[in-house]
Amino acid sequence: MLELTDDWLALRAPADSAARADQLVASLGGLPTGQGGLEVLDLGCGTGANLRHLAPLLAGAGHVQQHWTCVDHDRGLLARLPPRTRAWAEAQDLACTEAGGGLDVRAGDWRAEVAWTTLDLAAELQRLPLPARGLVTASALLDLVSEPWLAALLWRCRAAGCALLLALSYDGRCALTPAHACDAQVIALVNRHQRSDKGFGPALGPTAAATAGRRCGALGYLVQAAPSDWHLGPDMTGLQRALLAGWRDAAVQIVTGDAGAADWIDDWQGVREASIGAGESRLLVGHMDLLALP
Ligand SMILES: C[S@@+](CC[C@H](N)C(=O)[O-])C[C@H]1O[C@@H](n2cnc3c(N)ncnc32)[C@H](O)[C@@H]1O
Repeated sequence: MLELTDDWLALRAPADSAARADQLVASLGGLPTGQGGLEVLDLGCGTGANLRHLAPLLAGAGHVQQHWTCVDHDRGLLARLPPRTRAWAEAQDLACTEAGGGLDVRAGDWRAEVAWTTLDLAAELQRLPLPARGLVTASALLDLVSEPWLAALLWRCRAAGCALLLALSYDGRCALTPAHACDAQVIALVNRHQRSDKGFGPALGPTAAATAGRRCGALGYLVQAAPSDWHLGPDMTGLQRALLAGWRDAAVQIVTGDAGAADWIDDWQGVREASIGAGESRLLVGHMDLLALP
């Protein structure tokens, strides 16, 4: 199973950025903001990739004053948020200074104040500082959570008048080139693993975006969804290798007890690794982005 390390998040960030359905962000331009600007809460922020992707786009949609609160339960990942954000700002020619224990990112015509805090979303949902009439966002989180947890989150967001932008939820679609006879079997095992408990109860896995869309609609939200698939070409060897290793481990965990099963999964991984080495491997990994406006 893929471990949520700084290295893994850094490896996937370019594919995530290229995949995201950024056209959805324009619809957030109409969100009313108070004098202080747009309040944004980023759930499961990791090292801050969602912040770095979204802040300039929100600015482009008219939110030139933003106040971000980024939450995660992993202190190690949170500790990487400031240096990664400073490095990103420098590369983008943005000013980034420390202010009040957080960061202050400034471009010529927009500004984002960034704070972060440790919080276990599974155990401490009631403590979440929801921004009234602001934006609640998450990237690559939704497939980890359970349906009761999601229902409780959405209900609280609706009551607080929050908009939601839930990006990059894995939806179970995978296409592997060149094809191998065992691809479908491995992906089916991976998708079963996706439904196992990731700390929130039985995970929504590939059903996450559809479930969130349905539940948001039932709460009266205006919902838009768009695919945000990864298209990993032969040049993305590092991410392809890490993903295959994660798929292999997930599949093996599901078939434990079936003697010999690991052998065919390892053989499958060996063939796919050879395709990567030969510069022939392409992977499509299906994701969905979801926007819900109150
Ligand atoms: C796949 S990573 C995505 C990170 C980041 N949003 C990004 O796009 O790079 C999922 C994140 O959810 C966080 N997470 C998982 N379970 C959590 C929990 N119970 N409470 C808070 N954060 C959690 C992980 O620590 C990790 O940072």
